[in-house]
Amino acid sequence: MKFFIDTANLKEIEAAHALGVLDGVTTNPSLIAKEGIADRRGFVEHIKKICELVQGPVSAEAVSTDSDAMIAEARELAAIDPHVVVKIPMTTDGLKAVSRLADEGIKTNVTLVFSPLQALLAAKAGATYVSPFVGRLDDIAATGMDLVAQIVDIYSNYLFETEIIVASVRNPLHVLEAARMGADIATIPYKVIDQLVRHPLTDIGMEKFLKDWEKVEGK
Ligand code: E4P
Repeated sequence: MKFFIDTANLKEIEAAHALGVLDGVTTNPSLIAKEGIADRRGFVEHIKKICELVQGPVSAEAVSTDSDAMIAEARELAAIDPHVVVKIPMTTDGLKAVSRLADEGIKTNVTLVFSPLQALLAAKAGATYVSPFVGRLDDIAATGMDLVAQIVDIYSNYLFETEIIVASVRNPLHVLEAARMGADIATIPYKVIDQLVRHPLTDIGMEKFLKDWEKVEGK
């Protein structure tokens, strides 16, 4: 299973990278805005910096809404760095753009996926990745991970190459279930990556070992 970090914050990306478990990065317009990036040039420079930090797929989102404009934008984004994957929203125009971008060899991550049939369409159109948003489904009292289970099931029936990125991850349980279901990737906020590392029994165990070691050293 691959771990991506879901952030545009360079410090968080560096910290997760230092753990040795980071395979890629996903960003979105909200995460970019959160970093105080004020214009398109700043956005491009920021994506470049992320690509320098992580030698893996880095998702940068297209914000156009019609397919021709999305394609033009995707070409620009893909030219930033060979690791850039263009995030395309799961809309009619988005789907059209994905199949044309696949023909050009531009990698795509179909985002804002909330149903298994949307995921099926994205795979048929040639998406490199599909991102079901589990946390946002949980927020409206639907079970987000049920969607992932259905997508894993459908993709395995047809041997699609599209990889599933479990997105909108809010807690360690999402990651655990994603791994048990065999999802290819989870894109995880830094806070949740940190939660995955920690266990209270590890902390208690460490404290006791260190205290007992003081006896060995005669303190
Ligand atoms: C995924 O690629 C998205 O950037 C992200 O997971 C959305 O998460 P949110 O629902 O917490 O905003």
